Amino acid sequence: MLNYEEKIADLIAPQVEGLERDEILGMIETPADSKMGDYAFPCFKLAKVLRKAPPLIAKGIAEGIKDDPVFEKVEQVNAYVNMFISREEFASEVISEVVAKDEDFGKSDLGAERPVIVEYSSPNIAKPFHIGHIRSTVIGASIAKIYDYLGFKVIRINHLGDYGTQFGKMIVAYRRWGNREDVVREPIKTLLSYYTKFHEEADKDPSLEDEARATFTKLENGEKEETELWQWFRDESLKEFSRVYDMLGITYDSYAGESFYSDKMPRFIKELEEKGLMEDDDGVKLVRLDDYNLPPALITKSDGSTLYITRDIAAAVYRKETYDFYKNIYVVASQQNLHFQQWIQILEMMGYEWARDCVHVPFGLVSLEDGTMSTREGRVVFLEDVLNGAVDKTREIIKEKNPGADPEAIEEVAKAVGIGAVVFNELSNYRIKDYVFSWDHVLNFEGETGPYVQYTHARACSIIRNAGEDVVAKAKAGFDAKYLTSESAHALEKLLYEFPAVVKEAGEKYEPSIVTRHIVDIAQAFNKFYHDEHILVDNEDEKVAKVAIVLAARSVIRNGLDLLCMKAPEKM
Ligand code: ARG
Repeated sequence: MLNYEEKIADLIAPQVEGLERDEILGMIETPADSKMGDYAFPCFKLAKVLRKAPPLIAKGIAEGIKDDPVFEKVEQVNAYVNMFISREEFASEVISEVVAKDEDFGKSDLGAERPVIVEYSSPNIAKPFHIGHIRSTVIGASIAKIYDYLGFKVIRINHLGDYGTQFGKMIVAYRRWGNREDVVREPIKTLLSYYTKFHEEADKDPSLEDEARATFTKLENGEKEETELWQWFRDESLKEFSRVYDMLGITYDSYAGESFYSDKMPRFIKELEEKGLMEDDDGVKLVRLDDYNLPPALITKSDGSTLYITRDIAAAVYRKETYDFYKNIYVVASQQNLHFQQWIQILEMMGYEWARDCVHVPFGLVSLEDGTMSTREGRVVFLEDVLNGAVDKTREIIKEKNPGADPEAIEEVAKAVGIGAVVFNELSNYRIKDYVFSWDHVLNFEGETGPYVQYTHARACSIIRNAGEDVVAKAKAGFDAKYLTSESAHALEKLLYEFPAVVKEAGEKYEPSIVTRHIVDIAQAFNKFYHDEHILVDNEDEKVAKVAIVLAARSVIRNGLDLLCMKAPEKM
């Protein structure tokens, strides 16, 4: 497909001396108001170089390029060159490209198969998998998908929190007050109750803490009974997490969590010592980071046990050695900013040049309308309950709208739309912003929501079904673009054209919301086109052309939803 920005830069470059083509490329704007053209070129900057008034320069450039067939019209307005591209040619370029590429439209080979790790979700085992975890899970899954599209070889890792002294406590509590059936029936809630019980009892009897420490040491030393119990807790927790991952359609290449690094840390503790980076403070080993305005990072406690950051150091090196990553992306809450700053600093101090290829992608907090959550006070909202709730509510809505529809079909759509609604809502705002979870907003079929976009996609599918196979086959083979030059068709085409660049930008900024917003724009533009124009008209040529643009819009909305890890039902 013709790259219009580049074409314009090529045309303008010979008109202005002293400015490189690439510089010109960077200056081309897309005006918000279509009355100012499809593209605009501001000439303020050139005044100095050319020693002429900007409007004069703009006039000269406009004169110089206006005859190229790529333009319908070129105007000088004040210091701007406003360019109106030839709509028919544009429609023909864009729509035929999208229709031909279909599910590949938006993909590229930019990544050249270079390995990119995306670590996301990473919950702690035996702890609730709650609404707060949706953020890392869904943002990470989408970033991974975006990097797939960009042609990188993506490795998805779940860095489970499956290690630490709390497992000593859990084992002690289980042995004293636990029972197997309860754990199997409801693993996380049950294990959590043991953990709480442990703390209540330890307040009365501090010797329990010693027992827990001793038990954790046994676990660290790989003793059979403790290891088996820990493994069992982990397996049961993972079963529960997997239910949610299945609902969301999320998969992993590796579940190498914190415990995986338990035997890999001594090497780095030694290395830190040898490189003279470690200090001994009353038995506690730490790395001072005063020079970087950061508090010291604890590497081992006085009893020799390691910390969260110690495991992250080992994990980063392991990942480099195993995957030779081009980028190593961590989708983790902004509450852990300090941790990641310390960690990356330490890697750099150790001399690992690839530290700069490690990226922490932070995000803000999610809270609930009726006050924030508190795990400690038992005010948690389980992610699974939220997803099920969304499916239930959607089922009701669909039943109301389509009385008598086939229950099996309703169920499938309710899942796609209900879960999709939660996901879409999650990916709608800039990730760094805090947001309040609201049911009314999530399930609104009218607003800028998942159901709205999915509904628009289903509408496009229905038009295509009604057009019939013959017309669709003709549209795929070719069409007369003169029917696709109206204001609303052109606005839609521009958004479709921009989609590949949007995917790229979302990848560069680790920001799925850029895709979300763009497909909302496309859905709105499509609906405007649908309201403004008759699509299945009598004139066969016109019908074929309009079906072609519907096909294109459908492909891009579907690919956009796919990037957000959402389904695109054909009927709703
Ligand atoms: N398990 C941690 C938590 O729930 C998140 C892990 C983040 N990843 C990492 N490599 N530190 O807070």
